[in-house]
Amino acid sequence: MATIILVGSQWGDEGKGKVIDIYTEYADAVIRFQGGANAGHTIVIGDQTIILHQIPSGILHPDKLCIIGNGMVLNLETLVDEIDDLHRNGYFPDPSQLLISEEVHLVLPYHRLIDVGKEEQAGAKKIGTTGRGIGPAYEDKVSRKGIRFVDLFDEKVLREKLESNLAEKNPYLVSRLQQPPCDANEIFDAFRGLGERLKPHMANISVVLDRLVKEGKQVLFEGAQGALLDVDHGTYPYVTSSNTVAGAVCAGCGIGPTMIDGVVGVVKAYSTRVGEGPFPTEQLNETGTKLRDRGKEYGATTGRPRRCGWIDIVALKHAMRINGFTSLALTKLDVLSGIETVKIACAYKVNGREIDEFPANSGELASCEPVYEEMPGWDQDISAIRDYDALPPSAKNYIDRLQELLEVEFILVSVGYRRDETIVLENPFA
Ligand code: IMP
Repeated sequence: MATIILVGSQWGDEGKGKVIDIYTEYADAVIRFQGGANAGHTIVIGDQTIILHQIPSGILHPDKLCIIGNGMVLNLETLVDEIDDLHRNGYFPDPSQLLISEEVHLVLPYHRLIDVGKEEQAGAKKIGTTGRGIGPAYEDKVSRKGIRFVDLFDEKVLREKLESNLAEKNPYLVSRLQQPPCDANEIFDAFRGLGERLKPHMANISVVLDRLVKEGKQVLFEGAQGALLDVDHGTYPYVTSSNTVAGAVCAGCGIGPTMIDGVVGVVKAYSTRVGEGPFPTEQLNETGTKLRDRGKEYGATTGRPRRCGWIDIVALKHAMRINGFTSLALTKLDVLSGIETVKIACAYKVNGREIDEFPANSGELASCEPVYEEMPGWDQDISAIRDYDALPPSAKNYIDRLQELLEVEFILVSVGYRRDETIVLENPFA
């Protein structure tokens, strides 16, 4: 297999970053295809900590090509911070290692102000966004007001777009959202400067990918967020503003579906979510606190504590169907060690009936009661285990039951934070 998509199957934060790091070893190129700086990936190497929000972590390996696809919304101001941080730490010496789609839409200062202002105004009805301007940037893309990377190199187009956008947005920012107005000249100068600095990275990604695939190179598509935050198939309206499912790779990079060889879904051994929205298996009790503390469940981008609960098969089967997973990676199994009884939600009860399909209506989902299957847990610290057969029998039973319910196999089991605390059962590219 040459082209593999790796996506989250829950509400993001499944531990994709670690799996991506492991699979990057096998890949020649790593590509992001949706989302933006709402994602976050903290990499600890010795005493260095590097936080990447937009650049694939493959950038830490000098021989891997890293690509920012057109389906993302790119914040150039924070991108240069990421690049500077990499340079400071001695990484990314060769600029040709990073390519940015000429078609990618940009996050502008007014997008962040609108995001934050709208959330403040929404009060109890807020979405709980990351405040990175992601939604307003995608809104502009769809309403054909967006500014793309390539537009930075056409002074006339850039000035016209900025002026017409701000004529509309400034009154909205000031009167409706009580936010400061933006100055078109200031943004023009700043973004022309950013454009000049980043121009060497600009490329036609679709052409590059076509060449890589024809040369038989191994390409890894890196998803951000997770299936249940997908703007179409997630818990709408409590979702992000892009399609997070595997199918988004094609539109988000300019590659045809026939070019994709496999889809790996990352499944955390329990569930978490940040921000607002329904979460049927949430544990607002000691179990939830235990999962949060043991799993260090705090947002990588915003630092917010994550809501925690049991694994949810109804939601995961929905994720399976909308992504077409060919294999699965199980993460954070070690966090469940020491829990006497582990629970798996296999169905929901709502309005007196039992259902096993994920409701489209967020209100209905919020009133669903999970129907749990209980299994004995395990006590042992499993982080030193590298051989699947050496896992405690109860841990293996848990994995077997998940596989049985989901009808797809796990090809990786993560048993700890560190890179080597992993049981790799199969190379997805093999
Ligand atoms: P936005 O993507 O900032 O607009 O936020 C919309 C929703 O998606 C909020 O509930 C966020 O908490 C959530 N979200 C966005 N990015 C991530 C992520 O990388 N991990 C987990 N949740 C995310």
